[in-house]
Amino acid sequence: MDPVTRLGVVGCGLMGSGIAEVAALGGLDVRIAEATHDAVEAGRRRVTASLDRGVRRGRLSEERRDQALAGLSFTHDLSDLADRQFVVEAVAENRDIKTEVLRTLDKAVEDPTAILATNTSSIPVVDLAVVTERPAQVVGMHFFNPVPVQRLVEVIPALTTSEETVRRTRDFAGRLGKQVIQAPDRSGFVVNALLVPYLLSAVRMVESGGALPDDIDQGMELGCAHPMGPLRLLDLIGLDTAQAVAESMYEEFKEPLYAPPALLRRMVAAGHLGRKTGRGFYPYDA
Ligand code: 3HC
Repeated sequence: MDPVTRLGVVGCGLMGSGIAEVAALGGLDVRIAEATHDAVEAGRRRVTASLDRGVRRGRLSEERRDQALAGLSFTHDLSDLADRQFVVEAVAENRDIKTEVLRTLDKAVEDPTAILATNTSSIPVVDLAVVTERPAQVVGMHFFNPVPVQRLVEVIPALTTSEETVRRTRDFAGRLGKQVIQAPDRSGFVVNALLVPYLLSAVRMVESGGALPDDIDQGMELGCAHPMGPLRLLDLIGLDTAQAVAESMYEEFKEPLYAPPALLRRMVAAGHLGRKTGRGFYPYDA
């Protein structure tokens, strides 16, 4: 099987733009699909800004940035992904939206051996695999935020995923410079199953008036050498995404520690989603 040179990425938000950036820097031909013209333009700005920042900080030469940008193309029509060998979907963490994207991609991507990977954080991969005609070529490929920085990818085979698909996905992640762990197809996989109860416990600590956000964050940063405390991390991940992940995990396990606390729900309802909306547990420049 030829190595992947033509990648599709569906969704150009926080995760999709990072995946596209890393792949373009790796020399791949990357086509990014977003739902609307405006979303395409926002995605283009996000990837360009991140590459520009790399140049400003001296991590990237102008030539490498320009090569990466030349390797990126954008569309708002999933049928433009017809010739892709590998597609990663990174749309919102919503079961209905992801199901629809997988179903449409399955029809759009012509090569029946092409792999459709989902960057879901918590939805069982098998549920997305079985809506396609190629369940053996559907796999979980879970990146971490910020994608250009975090070295890990969880590869999650569903019960239907072939060994060949797992092998090709591991190879592909390796070519993006990522370290792979294989994770079970249970909600939260490995990392979120451990991380989410911790993050939610921090929200409950704020909710109960037990401690201030900055004291909690400093506690974990200075006491345990975490690069950022749990509430700063929630602001980075996005509170809406965190709530969606917690809901999927609670639905699967009915474990009270996974249930989104009321404060998290209220903040999401208020639109205080973290960095991306300029306000979460902390204020940010818009
Ligand atoms: N793109 C590229 N590089 C970036 C970046 C981005 N978006 N953000 C940070 N960096 C890199 C840069 O190399 C930067 O150095 P630079 O000066 O050369 O630009 C370096 O990281 C340090 O960045 P900053 O000085 O801006 O900030 P920090 O030192 O505070 O680091 C951080 C920021 C990398 C986000 C670090 O705090 C961290 O690793 N935090 C933990 C993140 C984490 O736990 N992620 C996992 C979340 S869980 C998840 O994603 C799963 C999902 O399913 C919920």
